[in-house]
Amino acid sequence: MSARLLCFNSACKKTYGLTEVIYNCPECGGLLEVEYTRAIPEPAVWKKLWRERRMSNEPLSQSGVWRYRELFPFVENEADIVTLREGNTPLLPGPKAAAYAGVESVVFKHQGFNPSGSFKDNGMTAGVAQARRLGMKRVACVSTGNTSASMAAYASAGGLEPMIFIPNGNISYGKLAQALEYGARTFQVEANFDQILALVRILAEKLGIYLLNSINPFRIEGQKSIVIEMMDQRDWNVPDWIVLPGGNLGNVSAFGKGLREMLAAGLITKLPRLAVIQAEGASPFYEFMQHPGEFTANTHPETLATAIKIGDPVSWPKAWQEIVTTNGVVEKVTEQEIADAKAVIGACGIGCEPASAATLAGIKKLKAAGIIAAHADIVAVLTGNVLKDPDYIYRYHTGALEAPDGSPITPTFGNRPVVVPNDPERIADLIR
Ligand code: F0G
Repeated sequence: MSARLLCFNSACKKTYGLTEVIYNCPECGGLLEVEYTRAIPEPAVWKKLWRERRMSNEPLSQSGVWRYRELFPFVENEADIVTLREGNTPLLPGPKAAAYAGVESVVFKHQGFNPSGSFKDNGMTAGVAQARRLGMKRVACVSTGNTSASMAAYASAGGLEPMIFIPNGNISYGKLAQALEYGARTFQVEANFDQILALVRILAEKLGIYLLNSINPFRIEGQKSIVIEMMDQRDWNVPDWIVLPGGNLGNVSAFGKGLREMLAAGLITKLPRLAVIQAEGASPFYEFMQHPGEFTANTHPETLATAIKIGDPVSWPKAWQEIVTTNGVVEKVTEQEIADAKAVIGACGIGCEPASAATLAGIKKLKAAGIIAAHADIVAVLTGNVLKDPDYIYRYHTGALEAPDGSPITPTFGNRPVVVPNDPERIADLIR
């Protein structure tokens, strides 16, 4: 195996060894990515091997990430890997969701089925493997909640000390509870995500703590497995669209890299189009794509979909490349659109957290704009589990949900619980 770190900046392209503890190019400050130079075997051989591994009781083969390790061969010693059997997330058709968006079909790739309930586990198992390989004892991240929950779980499972930094009062209790339960040292900082990222980078450097935000290129390698597994589940038939929410833009970067590498390896024969959906109050990438040029951060991002409440996404240069390469699009949706789409996904018996529902709201909007065709083959990635943010759900269904600017969200698909007396006759009357 031959792998190295490569500067993503096309004017630089410096390379570094895999064991250097760096997150940006020391030369130009550009983003880093893992690059492999190795012979590629017959695609059919790998496809067969990956299918066979699904039948295995061996932990790495049971992992929906490491099953595909030939496509991210950066680990030297498999003993460094910590797996909680991540990945293995289903493709679930949502006919009611498709009808709502005005398209013939929408299939959800539900990353909320992961061990810590979000897509972060696909990347975290890879990031933690690299941390262990480097002999790091402590790992850190700033998070809107899911990265911290995932990092806490994997670090603790792997004997590392997790330290998490979260915007005080701005993450859901489900996510905060996970970090506490998985044993992370938890710092609630009086600042927003983007400000805390700058802070954590200083602390990581000062104290020799390994940073596991998605700027870490090994996280991105693990997250490629989401699209790899998706293609395997579809017998390598590429959809027309893959739709996903965008926050810090690590996931779209991972999807694009994974798809390009699968195409180069002959595993797939074309690229799908990527559609990134942002919340209107936190949509700097959408704004940038309207007029590419200077990237302008949003210093006051606002959305109830706290997972994607990010105004200065670090991976935007990579995300831009992947949108251009896949002939993709970036859309933004309102708080009301996210809330209603979320209730529709719930009514499919599937459910997801608010940020994930931006996908369906985006599909509806892109269909109405004539960008997504009614007959298109669409996979929407639900990034987090329905139980991540129960408070939002209760408020929506009882008509108490308010947008960040204080305007009420209409519970279009509200389902209010009813308080009843302990009286069979009266309850029977109500049901009739
Ligand atoms: N959906 C969910 C549920 C998320 O938690 C995140 C990001 C995203 C979408 C956006 O993904 O950042 O790769 O564009 N959550 C991060 C966190 C930032 O800290 O948990 P992205």
